[in-house]
This record gives sequence, structure tokens and C-alpha cells, in this order.
Amino acid sequence: QIPVIIDCDPGVDDTMMLMLAFARPELDVRLVTTEAGNLTIDKTTYNALSFLTYINKHVEVARGLPQPLFRKQEVAEDIHGEGGLGNVKWADPAFEASKRPAIQAMYDTLIHSTEPITIVATGPLTNIAALLIAHPEVKPNIKQISWMGGSAVGGNMSTTAEFNAYVDPHAAELVMRAGVPIIMSGLDVTHKAYITRDEMAHLRTLGTPFAEKVADMMQFYTFTQKQTPFYAPGFEEQIRIHDVSAVACLVAPELYRGDDYFVEVELEGRLTQGATIVDYTKQSGKEPNVHVLHSVDRAAFIKLFFEAVTTIGKT
Ligand code: BDR
Ligand code: CA
Repeated sequence: QIPVIIDCDPGVDDTMMLMLAFARPELDVRLVTTEAGNLTIDKTTYNALSFLTYINKHVEVARGLPQPLFRKQEVAEDIHGEGGLGNVKWADPAFEASKRPAIQAMYDTLIHSTEPITIVATGPLTNIAALLIAHPEVKPNIKQISWMGGSAVGGNMSTTAEFNAYVDPHAAELVMRAGVPIIMSGLDVTHKAYITRDEMAHLRTLGTPFAEKVADMMQFYTFTQKQTPFYAPGFEEQIRIHDVSAVACLVAPELYRGDDYFVEVELEGRLTQGATIVDYTKQSGKEPNVHVLHSVDRAAFIKLFFEAVTTIGKT
């Protein structure tokens, strides 16, 4: 089993990422920490507790930092809904957030582990940047960071910046520079890891209350995604479940293709703040620091997704 810490900001697609992580036997989720991202830290923490209660996985949930390192927090309630999970209510949380703050919980989990741990990160990287500044000694205990964020080819929050990088670019840059192995599932690959409306309709035929709720949540997300101006043809038919790739690429790496590049984050650009600058043409002469994924076997990805809905629906 791959031991993992999950740092997330649920969020519709974060919730689907949690579903996949807890459905797969390959992963041993040791800790969930929350980020201020799609919503305030109160809401993302509540949503993590609520979803984990529903699926009956009472793993420690530790609350993260309340805001980005320097920037003012910008949330994405227009995409994920005011509560963050579309119009879906999962469950009243049956357990509370940990007494340990996220950074303490991450530190303790890493430092006491007998084997290196993979961090799955599907929000801004605020907690992880703070952890690495406060406790650089944990670095050897981090096997890799699988991050959904960034993009080489254009953004979704601005023309050039992806949401998670845009919200806390300083944190993202600190993590890129940390010398820890990073897999980046940016928009380049997550725009290819979509589910169509027809496939989503098929979810309902699975006939479990869980599948119904997933379909409801995704339906809301389809509607809001449609409002996002974007360049991809057929965008309205394609529901992008970005964060799922950060787990899928660990449990089924054979579905993904990528390469190693030098990546840094633009902190000052007038038009480009938060852009992840991927040295695709290898002009910088700098050593690659990130494994950037660029393509995925979509059919196999959807199969993985459906299997997870079925597995969790039975637990
Ligand atoms: C990312 O932004 C958030 O809204 C999603 O949860 C995902 O992590 C996609 O750009
Ligand atoms: Ca997210």
C-alpha cells in the first residue's frame, strides 16, 4: 500500500478525489488536511468531515491555515456552490476536526513514519509550503507530492493562471523549489480527464443513493462550469473532475503520460501572476524539478471513476 496524506479544499472535484482515494486498496490514507481554497477554511473542513462521515471513513481531519501566505483569499463559490458541494448535503459530521492543526499533524505523521509518505495536494499549497519552511527536516520522509494545479497552456482563473496556483502563488513557488519530487496534474492533463454529460447520466443507472448524490453534485458543477469562458471546443459537454487525477495517477500511473521539466511560478507579472512557467523547450538550462503530466487514457480514467462510485456505494 502507498501511505498518503491528502491536503484538499472540498469542493466538488476534491470530494470525487476523496472518493477515489478511499475506494482504492492501493492507498493507505493516514491523514486528511484542509486548505482555504475553493471556500473558506471553515467550509472546506466541514465538507471533508461531512463527506468522510457519509462514506464512513473517520480518518483524522486537521484544519489548515485560514488564508494564503500573502494574497487575500479568493474563493470559487461560483463554481462549487455556496456550501462547496453543489446542492448536495452529504451528512452531519459524526466526528470533529483534529485538535492538531494541519501543519502539526502533517509533521507528526511524516516524522514518525517508517516509510516515505506521498502527499496528494488538490488545493492551493499553503499548508505544504508552511510545513516545508517550518520543518525542512521532513523532506526525506516525503516520497513525492502529487499536486493538481498549475498549467503549461493557459489558465482557468486568469488567462494564464490555474486556480490553485493563482490563489497562493508564493506557496506554490516555495513548494516547486523545495527539492521534493513533484507530479503536476495541471490543466494540460485535467482538461483531458473529463466526464461527458451522457456518462454522468449513466451514473444514475447504477441505482445506489451514493451514485445519485454524486450525479446531483456533478450536475450542479456542469452548470457552473458552463459559465466559465474557455477555449476548448465542446466545453459544455465535458465536466472536468480535475482533482481526481492527483490520485488516479498514483493508483493507475499507466494511464498517464508526462515528462520532467523545470517549473517556476510567476509572482510578479502584471498579467500573469500565478502562472506556472513550464520550461517545455528546455531553454533555461535548469534541472527539471517537476514531472508534468500532459495526457491521459480518458476511457480508462472514466472506468476507474465508475468503479470507485460502485465500490463506495456498497460500503
Ligand atoms: C482546481 O481549482 C479548484 O476549483 C478545483 O477544486 C481544482 O482543485 C482546478 O483548477
Ligand atoms: Ca481542489
